Amino acid sequence: LDIDINKKGATIAPDMWGLFFEDINFAADGGLYAEMIKNYSFEFPSPFMGWRRIQEDGAMGYHYTKPHLDDSKNKKYLQIQRLNDQGNFGMSNEGFRGMAVKENENYRLTFIAKVAKGENLSINAQITKGKKILAETTIDQLTDEWKSYEVMLKATETADGVNFKVLLDGEGELDIDMISLFPEDTWMGRKRGLRKDLVQLLADMKPGFLRFPGGCIVEGFDLENRYQWKNTIGDMKDRGTMINRWNIEFAHRNAPDYFQSFGLGFFEYFQLAADLGAEPLPILSCGLACQYNSGEMVPLAALDEYVQDALDLIEFANGSTDTYWGAKRAEMGHPESFELKYIGVGNENWGPQYIERAEIFEKAIKAAYPEIIIVSTSGPSPDGHEFDYLWKELKARNAELIDEHYYKSPEWFRENARRYDDYDRSGPKVFAGEYAAHSTTENDALKRNNWEGALSEAAFMTGLERNADIVRLASYAPLLAHVDGWQWAPDMIWFDNLGSYATPNYYVQKLFSTNPGTQIIQITENGNTLAGEEGIYASSTYDENTKELIFKIVNTNTESRAFTVRLNGNYKGKGNGKWLELQSDDLTEAHSLKEPKRIVPEENDISIQKKKIQVSLKGQSVNVFRLKI
Ligand code: AHR
Repeated sequence: LDIDINKKGATIAPDMWGLFFEDINFAADGGLYAEMIKNYSFEFPSPFMGWRRIQEDGAMGYHYTKPHLDDSKNKKYLQIQRLNDQGNFGMSNEGFRGMAVKENENYRLTFIAKVAKGENLSINAQITKGKKILAETTIDQLTDEWKSYEVMLKATETADGVNFKVLLDGEGELDIDMISLFPEDTWMGRKRGLRKDLVQLLADMKPGFLRFPGGCIVEGFDLENRYQWKNTIGDMKDRGTMINRWNIEFAHRNAPDYFQSFGLGFFEYFQLAADLGAEPLPILSCGLACQYNSGEMVPLAALDEYVQDALDLIEFANGSTDTYWGAKRAEMGHPESFELKYIGVGNENWGPQYIERAEIFEKAIKAAYPEIIIVSTSGPSPDGHEFDYLWKELKARNAELIDEHYYKSPEWFRENARRYDDYDRSGPKVFAGEYAAHSTTENDALKRNNWEGALSEAAFMTGLERNADIVRLASYAPLLAHVDGWQWAPDMIWFDNLGSYATPNYYVQKLFSTNPGTQIIQITENGNTLAGEEGIYASSTYDENTKELIFKIVNTNTESRAFTVRLNGNYKGKGNGKWLELQSDDLTEAHSLKEPKRIVPEENDISIQKKKIQVSLKGQSVNVFRLKI
């Protein structure tokens, strides 16, 4: 193989390898967003969903929900009426597909309450496993005015399948609402924060961008169900609750209890992107609901509200604190700009209906914010006529970035490493915004990210990197999935309520995102790029920050292959290089909570002699080399 280190080619976008986040598979509520109480404010259409009434050992009374009389989006509260002083009386919450605690960790309980009737009432808050109490505290000094309370509960042991209980002691009536329980130990220790283990996995990838909030949830089943960012900022009582578009019922993926509390809202997404050092990339509804569902579309004459949401979002992210939306951002704790550069208009929408709406957005956004880069959609599949139609129409309108999605078989990924070799360099750039190799098996266990998928994605990604002059951004999708509550697989990271694991696909993504480079350099065999000939794929870059050559070779053959890599040109490096290898002989190999690290990169030194590297690459391996030049 030959690499001419003098021939540095096109610049690679510094934010090329990023993350696609969607609240699917309980990725937000019940996942990244560390709230442990399901239906914390009794706003689900069935107001006691997630809750169970407790009335034990002769206790008597009633449980109701009642309307708040103010005009906040928090419309209902719980009233517990206790008629005698015997036994246990109150409510128990089941969490999101269960609830878990860790030994010696603190859990912050917050709620608002007021005594509606009675004297000397108190609350006994418990975390229980069966009959065993793992944490307990008493809250007295309750008053007859709505007031906020905050207490800590410390767990005496690690357990999954626990319940949270709120018990009323004393005869009388207690109004209570927004009952929320979070681990104290969240990402960056923030109150109402994010799960530390999950964010750490994301941070370790050093992602270039964070796309949010989806996916199909941007569009909604219908327009009312679309994601509206203004309902997701500010005080929790002003955020409301909405049915999640992935609230679907079929087979074991049943999720009729899937709602969005918006505790992870647009402020938190921007904050997360900033924490990760990633560019925020919000996607907004373009006025077309999911065309696979209702296909509802807002008339052009009524599109203003949608366009205004986009303009206001840019002001929310970047506007000075003197602006209306910039001031809201500052109130939430971030007076500095979030430095938004991109905005997406629509997700997987198609047809002339998309083009005419996208044009209106483009005109308004560019008039107010010419520097913002607009991401347009190319529909759901790269095969259909809609894709060709959208590309043609968007190109004619000088679109800047077009979002392509492909969920295809592992073979497709291996066979399409040349996908971008012939793309028109004078047209729009590509955002490979959602992709993943899907094995065709019906076996759910195998759908959970096996090595064949990950290896095939790596092969394909060398093609993205070779074509980084046109492929500006790329992200695997979806990102997160709860092992007991998923609607879509494969996914990059899986979790339950206690722990999480990264898949082989995660390690492939991480190898690319943490070894990117700043310019493309050709790596060839007999003058030809390697994109699957004899099962070998390769790409190479130069990193001007570290003055390193980085090259990646994927061997999809079952047997090993030996190569001599010649460093042509002005090579002055000294010493060894670094070799990261990800490999498995078993294409069906996958990770699990019990075995999370079967396929992880191994690091070795590699020697360079007389401007040559001799390597033998194992069968079914992804290899990354770094050396000073
Ligand atoms: O990633 C899962 C879904 O796939 C996304 O919501 C949608 O954009 C695509 O169809």
